[in-house]
Amino acid sequence: MTFLECNDLIKLYVDEQSKIQVPALRGVELSANEGDLIAIIGPSGSGKSTLINLIAGIDRPSSGEIILGGEIITKLNEKQLTQHRRERVGLLYQLPERNLIWNLTALRNVMLPMKLNGRWPREEQKKRALHLLKDVGLGERGHHKPHQLSGGEAQRTGIAVALANDPDIVLADEPTGELDSVTTFKIIEYFKLLNKELGKTFLVVTHDNRFANMTVKAMRILDGRIVGLHRAIDPRISLDIREEVIFVDDHGNMRIPDDIRKEAGIKNHVQIEMRNGFATIIPVRGDLEK
Ligand SMILES: Nc1ncnc2c1ncn2[C@@H]1O[C@H](COP(=O)(O)OP(=O)(O)OP(=O)(O)O)[C@@H](O)[C@H]1O
Ligand SMILES: [Mg+2]
Repeated sequence: MTFLECNDLIKLYVDEQSKIQVPALRGVELSANEGDLIAIIGPSGSGKSTLINLIAGIDRPSSGEIILGGEIITKLNEKQLTQHRRERVGLLYQLPERNLIWNLTALRNVMLPMKLNGRWPREEQKKRALHLLKDVGLGERGHHKPHQLSGGEAQRTGIAVALANDPDIVLADEPTGELDSVTTFKIIEYFKLLNKELGKTFLVVTHDNRFANMTVKAMRILDGRIVGLHRAIDPRISLDIREEVIFVDDHGNMRIPDDIRKEAGIKNHVQIEMRNGFATIIPVRGDLEK
């Protein structure tokens, strides 16, 4: 069943100086099921943070609709929106400084959102926090303060903080931007593990293409639109086989993602081969490209 739905989501910012409207999202269509782990991959300025902020209820769209678990977020009043942010959404950002309070231990950091929420009694808070730290492989690190943790450990603590109030969805904005490859891989593995064990819905936005092959559902965002859906067909068979769904506008224009262009050696021309109703795109090499 569809759990998260974005319908024709548009967000315009007004540039302070020139007063010109900047479209950050130009009609995002998105749907996800409960328990999905989704990566939305896009370059800088493509609208990733804007999308996260709208789903989180930090900001409101210019038009369009967001539905989470049957509730139309875009129709909530300010008070309801605050409640939505506090109770239904867990957030994880790129910088540990944004996720954690520096002079609190990891355990206290995970307990803090529960304290503010008031849903669990104190003893329960501690138990939950210890459990969550264990879930992210930091069962022994509860008494450490953020500066005593590695970048990856701090980010894993951040995941536990995001999960503290048992949100409906965890929204992560470039969660591995500060981390090296090995640590990034480990963080993705934790996302997968928690997604599977807790059945939580995770939405990660990132510029990191490696998420594409490591998550079950990956989409691309470009210039404020979801342009492609990428599915690893069966990672056990081959990581090389994949499907890509690309947005085609009314004039037939489409944009082939940079990494695919590079990998397939596509320059300025492609040949479209029609066979039995299927169109295959083939890179043109040779004369045309001289
Ligand atoms: N508050 C704002 N006022 C004006 N324009 C904004 C504002 N926030 C974002 N934008 C513009 O909206 C577009 C999308 O921004 P957004 O921050 O969502 O991109 P992003 O994909 O998160 O980029 P990055 O990878 O660099 O974080 C950009 O062109 C940006 O300049
Ligand atoms: Mg951003």
